[in-house]
Amino acid sequence: MTTPLVAHGQLTGLYDLSEIGRDAQRGGYSRHLWDPADLEMREWFIERARRIGLDVEQDRNGNLWAWWGTPGTNAVAVGSHLDSVPGGGAYDGPLGVVSALEAVARLKASGITPTRPVVVVAFAEEEGSRFGLACLGSRLMTGEVDPAYARQLTDRNGISLERAAQAAGVNPAHFGPDPQSLGRIALFIELHVEQGRGLIDLDSPLAMASSILAHGRWRLSINGQGNHAGTTGMEHRRDPVLAAARAVIAVNDTARTHAGTRATVGRLEVVPGGTNVIASQVNAWIDARGETDASTRSLVEEIRANVTSALRLTGCDASITEESWNGTVHFDSETTGSLAEAIAGVPLLPTGAGHDAGILAGHVPSAMLFVRNPTGISHSPEEFAEVDDCVAGVQALQAMLRSVL
Ligand code: GLV
Ligand code: MN
Ligand code: MN
Repeated sequence: MTTPLVAHGQLTGLYDLSEIGRDAQRGGYSRHLWDPADLEMREWFIERARRIGLDVEQDRNGNLWAWWGTPGTNAVAVGSHLDSVPGGGAYDGPLGVVSALEAVARLKASGITPTRPVVVVAFAEEEGSRFGLACLGSRLMTGEVDPAYARQLTDRNGISLERAAQAAGVNPAHFGPDPQSLGRIALFIELHVEQGRGLIDLDSPLAMASSILAHGRWRLSINGQGNHAGTTGMEHRRDPVLAAARAVIAVNDTARTHAGTRATVGRLEVVPGGTNVIASQVNAWIDARGETDASTRSLVEEIRANVTSALRLTGCDASITEESWNGTVHFDSETTGSLAEAIAGVPLLPTGAGHDAGILAGHVPSAMLFVRNPTGISHSPEEFAEVDDCVAGVQALQAMLRSVL
């Protein structure tokens, strides 16, 4: 993994964050809601924002807001998230937050007096890596998840979101729709590292987002019979790991037959997980995505049927439960078009990755700016962005902000 060393003192925030939450086991970074790394990222945000002269507050759902000007209506919000996937890259999330702070710092230093408030936001648990629900902070704020459901979500150690919030000094009873925070913003702009090969292929450092694929997560639970690896004959087993192997192949095969869809099993949990133990249960998580809501839903239905049939001779029972869903997002072309005028010549690009801007887009005019990733790899330590492209992103953000202030 390349340390995001930033030349000529540009975007020093990326350098400040480069040692926080490094994951020695997985490689890359692991920063999950309210774990020590996430708390350190948040402290950095608060400190950096205050140094720029912004007023920082945490909302009832754990999202951080740093205000330039008096919090009020008609604000322009700009930001992203600070958490990561397990073993993720340095840029997914933090680049958007660091760039937003940098753009605001530069605008402030230039002496302009904004005609409306500007706020830098860091949304909580965008990746859903700790509690399983992506865009948790923005979903809670917009009322797109029931707070009672959210409170009982648990992490890999069985700690509920409710308890984790309490431990972080956040009152989970206050979770839920936050019309006050949402009502203050009239526009949201999220800068994000590009997560595929889109900008390499376009040969452009930047692009505005046009759309986000429909996507969701489903838990596949397979129950078998836990038993002894040495005493149980091969014909007497009900082994959920074998069933899971068949299921994973069925998931992949199914997505390959649906044009434009993607399905992934990236997380498996074997219970109890002993070398000499035939497992009793496997939990696997299916991430499925597609161009339209209908194509994604029909992919999942076919996965359900194909997994059921792949498991028929394994003697195991299985269930597939939806854990989250986001319909396709088409960013408002008027909002995107008018911001793009400030940075002429930037192409439009769809993405298969989910974002808080996708949640916000259903509630306030929202737009996204992507920064080229020369490796084309993301959710991995190989994710990267060149300094010059990051600086171009900050300059574009500044120009967009200027155009609306
Ligand atoms: C987040 O990056 C996602 O697309 O799952
Ligand atoms: Mn991500
Ligand atoms: Mn992200």
